[in-house]
Amino acid sequence: MPVIDIGREVTLEFIRVTEAAALKASRWMGRGDKEAADQAAVDAMRGMLDLVSIRGTIIIGEGEKDKAPMLYIGEKVGGGGLRDPKVDIAVDPIDGTTLTSKGLPNAIAVIAVGNQGTLASLPSYYVNKIAVGPGAKGSIDINDSVQANLERVAKASGARTRELTAIVLDRPRHSEIIEQVRDAGARIKLISDGDVAGAISTAIEDSGVNILFGIGGSPEAVLAAAALKCLGGEMQVKIWPRDDEERQKILDMGYSEDDFDKVYDTEDLARGDSIIFCATGITGGDFLRGVRYEGNVAISHSVAMRAKTTTVRYVTAHHHLDIKTIPSRTEAREVEI
Ligand code: FBP
Repeated sequence: MPVIDIGREVTLEFIRVTEAAALKASRWMGRGDKEAADQAAVDAMRGMLDLVSIRGTIIIGEGEKDKAPMLYIGEKVGGGGLRDPKVDIAVDPIDGTTLTSKGLPNAIAVIAVGNQGTLASLPSYYVNKIAVGPGAKGSIDINDSVQANLERVAKASGARTRELTAIVLDRPRHSEIIEQVRDAGARIKLISDGDVAGAISTAIEDSGVNILFGIGGSPEAVLAAAALKCLGGEMQVKIWPRDDEERQKILDMGYSEDDFDKVYDTEDLARGDSIIFCATGITGGDFLRGVRYEGNVAISHSVAMRAKTTTVRYVTAHHHLDIKTIPSRTEAREVEI
């Protein structure tokens, strides 16, 4: 009897999930309302998830149950058939809500899926991150200086430091990192938001980006690590409380002082080869095109990848607006895109 590869069967179904979120979010592009964009993406993603043949649990989503009406941590999603695989799910219906609301590049809808217990559930605060693509895997150390990391990445890439480009979120908290990258002679790409796409771009040929440095959300770190796992890249993070109050909150969650020194690597964040990652572009960016409208057709561009085979599939879909509908969770019915 042939062995059924469950990941293989459901991987492409998850593209529909990120497509639905991106299509709905794209309606809000540039309209200055990031909450409305987010709600639309959450509703579509949640609605579409129930059509996927899984017994899923949200482990990274829109927050705690009392604060989020859907895609909350612990929520059960999926078709729920007795023979469907039990999986953990991390979602970000829009990474880059502000990017979407302003029509700026690199807003994406993302999902990562893995067998139970394979995706890390870090405290939902900031983490310090460093990430590289496959060519520089094994050459980063988050405890080392920016310069030392750049030198090793340059060596691994057969380049000089001055030929490297680091991607960094444009935030005051990164002024030192930015200065250190400049002092080392490397180039910088400052981004206003969206460090999931930023981290992934280090592993995408032609992006021209070699390394990500900086502090951003921990949910985004797990999602990016899932993608880098499939792409053969590497990510390291450390929990980064902003102040004593945040530090105490994390300790109250059961973490110890030692956990602030712990380095979580790609494998800690997204373990084993059951990991699946899918994303759809909302606004056009470094590795995905945004949703475009041509007449009554919406065109989406997505990527699906699996750690097991490391196959990376790009999918361009043409959605006929007069035929196609998307399941809305809030309205409990199919709605127009
Ligand atoms: P949202 O889509 O939730 O607005 O997050 C975008 C983002 O830029 C992430 O990619 C990043 O990890 C985080 O925000 C950075 O947080 P902050 O904006 O507080 O610096």
